[in-house]
Parts: sequence; C-alpha cells; structure tokens
Amino acid sequence: MHLKTSRLVLRNFTDADLDIFWKYRNDPEVAKYQGWKIPYPREKAKAFIDLIKNAGAPRVGEWIQYAVALKDTNEIIGDLGCHVKKADSRQAVIGFTISSPHWRKGYATEIIPALLRYLFVDLKMHRVAADCDVENTASYRTLEKLGFRREAHFIESFLINGAYTSEYHYGMLQREWFEIYGER
Ligand SMILES: CC(C)(COP(=O)(O)OP(=O)(O)OC[C@H]1O[C@@H](n2cnc3c(N)ncnc32)[C@H](O)[C@@H]1OP(=O)(O)O)[C@@H](O)C(=O)NCCC(=O)NCCS
Repeated sequence: MHLKTSRLVLRNFTDADLDIFWKYRNDPEVAKYQGWKIPYPREKAKAFIDLIKNAGAPRVGEWIQYAVALKDTNEIIGDLGCHVKKADSRQAVIGFTISSPHWRKGYATEIIPALLRYLFVDLKMHRVAADCDVENTASYRTLEKLGFRREAHFIESFLINGAYTSEYHYGMLQREWFEIYGER
C-alpha cells in the first residue's frame, strides 16, 4: 500500500511507527469513541503492528489498517482501517483516526478520499460504509464533508466502556463516488 496526496501518504505500518502509534492509542481524546480500551499496552501496540505491517490489499472478512504519514517526514499521524464484508466482497467498511496534535488541519478529508478512490476505482467496490457515535461530531462532519449519506440512527446500539451509546451509520455507493469525485 502506498497512496499519496499533496501532504500525506497512506502506507503500511513499519516498526518505526510504534511509539507514536502507542502514544495516540493512549490519548483519551482519540480513544473516546473507539473500540479499544486505555491504557493500551505497548506490547499490544507492537503485536498489532507486527500483524499488519506487511498488509497488502484488504482481505475478505478481515480488518486491515494502514498508516497515515506526513509526506515530508514519513512521521505517522494516524491510521485508516478497512474491512471487506465476508458476505459480499464488493462492500467495505472504513474507520479513521488522526492523532490529536494534527486535528482540524484537513488531514482526514485529504487522506480518506485516497482510500475511497482505491476501493471504488481499483477494487471496484459497490458500496463503502462507516459508522460513528452520535456525539462524535468530528467523525460525522468528516463523513458528511466527504459526501457520505447518513442512512441510520441506531439508539443505544453500541456497548462501549460499559455503557450503551447511539450510532449514525453512513454509506456511499460507487456511482455516487464517481458523481462527486469524477474519474480521478
Ligand atoms: C474524526 C477525525 C479523524 C477528524 O480528523 P481531522 O483531520 O481533524 O478532520 P478534518 O480536519 O479533515 O475535518 C473534517 C471536518 O470535520 C470538522 N471537524 C473536525 N474536528 C471537529 C471537531 N472537534 N468538532 C467539530 N467539527 C470538527 C472540520 O471542521 C471539518 O469540517 P468543515 O471543513 O466543514 O469545518 C479526528 O477527529 C479523530 O481522529 N478523532 C478521534 C478518532 C475517531 O473518533 N475516529 C472516528 C471513529 S468513527
């Protein structure tokens, strides 16, 4: 995996990403609406990177994670996740994280379209979905800015840290990608 935008690259994780990855996984603001628990042990971060650092294309039924790095320095600033549904290999789900020192610089809205282009154009996905906590304003604003359609509002549907939260579910179809982003 190696996709470029004007300021960023989406690439495989490397061993050199460990400390920064571990640090932002332990940032309470970053972890607030995510599925992992903090403290997030360094060994777990290392095992995670070992598992995914040689990842190629997304594989059916598995979650795969790619690093988002600054193009100039190759420093990791976040990651994008992608899951291809077992029941239908032309449907994917994405997830995204940017570390808090890099928030609100337009990085998420810059790098996610690179992954979407890969999914819709290269892998010919029919549909890409994403979901988020209804209180995660940054997440749903990002999705809406990218052109995702809010399709569902599930009430107390996700158990996180012992409490049920509500979720918005979003979707984009391949033909909608081409309508919004053209052939690029
Ligand atoms: C969601 C996240 C990836 C956004 O990353 P980002 O690089 O800061 O986003 P961008 O700078 O591209 O901003 C995208 C849009 O969201 C808005 N936005 C970003 N953070 C926001 C916040 N805290 N509150 C309100 N709006 C916010 C931006 O203003 C922008 O919309 P606009 O241009 O119309 O104003 C980042 O906040 C994050 O990693 N959060 C923690 C992890 C997480 O919750 N991931 C999503 C799990 S579903």
